[in-house]
Amino acid sequence: MNMTPKIHYLKSLELLKHLDEHKESSFFAVIDNKVKNHLPQWIQFSPRIYWLSNPELQKNLETYQDIVDFFLDQGIERTSVIYAIGGGATSDLAGFVASTLLRGIKWRVIPTTLLSMVDAAIGGKVAVNLPKGKNLIGSFYHPEEILLCGDFLKTNSPADILSGEGEIIKYGFLSQEVNELIMAKKPLEEIIEACAHFKMEIVKKDFKETGERINLNLGHTFGHAFEHLWKIPHGQAVLLGLKSVFQLFDLKSSLSELAQLMKARGVDESFIELGKFTSIKMDDFLKTIYSDKKKQQAKLRFILVKRVGSCYVEELSSSELKKMLEANEDLHHLFGVN
Ligand SMILES: NC(=O)c1ccc[n+]([C@@H]2O[C@H](COP(=O)([O-])OP(=O)(O)OC[C@H]3O[C@@H](n4cnc5c(N)ncnc54)[C@H](O)[C@@H]3O)[C@@H](O)[C@H]2O)c1
Repeated sequence: MNMTPKIHYLKSLELLKHLDEHKESSFFAVIDNKVKNHLPQWIQFSPRIYWLSNPELQKNLETYQDIVDFFLDQGIERTSVIYAIGGGATSDLAGFVASTLLRGIKWRVIPTTLLSMVDAAIGGKVAVNLPKGKNLIGSFYHPEEILLCGDFLKTNSPADILSGEGEIIKYGFLSQEVNELIMAKKPLEEIIEACAHFKMEIVKKDFKETGERINLNLGHTFGHAFEHLWKIPHGQAVLLGLKSVFQLFDLKSSLSELAQLMKARGVDESFIELGKFTSIKMDDFLKTIYSDKKKQQAKLRFILVKRVGSCYVEELSSSELKKMLEANEDLHHLFGVN
């Protein structure tokens, strides 16, 4: 297992200084085109940069191969360092290159979306998508450093900010500290630091997700299906996943906590009215969630919350879940049942 990385919180000038200090030492990088204007000018002319124009669409084996060929042509060595500068799709792809090229090269990540700052860049899960599904080929491979700089958020789209808020609100259920910061309406940068730190502490204890790390999947069981079927950003799907799973298990106090956390973060509650989304065929929904790679044999695991900071797991087979969904009137509109 590679070493747990350090997280650094930098102002933009400090980040520019860091990059300037590394420009001579053969700077290899995979960078999202959209963050070009945040970076020093010399980067635009640097020959060892692989620019991504649409990271999620390029998070595949074809681009992986292209990056590997490009870096080899540019003389990459085992002692080089690869920078990943972008959102979660960029860091997943660049991290996967780093984990495999020449049997593993050091990498550093500079997350540039809210979602990647609090989640995707932390924890060393790296992957590419296959036509059969997301993140099906990947590995666990920590970067040596995570450099967080809030300035990138200034250009995040509202949809991407909302996506990041979805993960932040999830942490509001998992971490007492994050919950208190949210409820006290502390500045976003403080909340980002707390989320990143919280995730890293869990990952330190359970790198390969055989225990406690599974709690980070709160809201993801249904969330992944919504992300896939409605083509919405990851964190937005998690927010809808939280609401629907709390409704499924009739967890009134979790539903009320969700409303309070959203209000405190200024996220409009109308966003999670499931009725405004296109209804889904029950069989398509079940097929999607039971083909998710996180299923354990025929049972699907649902992470639920006893109280802030304390989770438990419920396991359901497809037929058990179907019965519960059919019996739950709150979720009927999701499947077009009147
Ligand atoms: N490895 C993990 O643990 C983990 C966890 C959660 C999600 N993920 C993965 O992360 C991805 C989602 O992450 P994401 O939401 O960051 O997606 P993303 O990387 O696709 O970025 C979202 C959009 O924001 C743009 N962008 C990035 N930084 C910007 C900036 N500063 N200003 C303006 N635009 C910017 C991107 O070009 C893209 O259009 C998915 O591929 C998901 O599978 C990984």
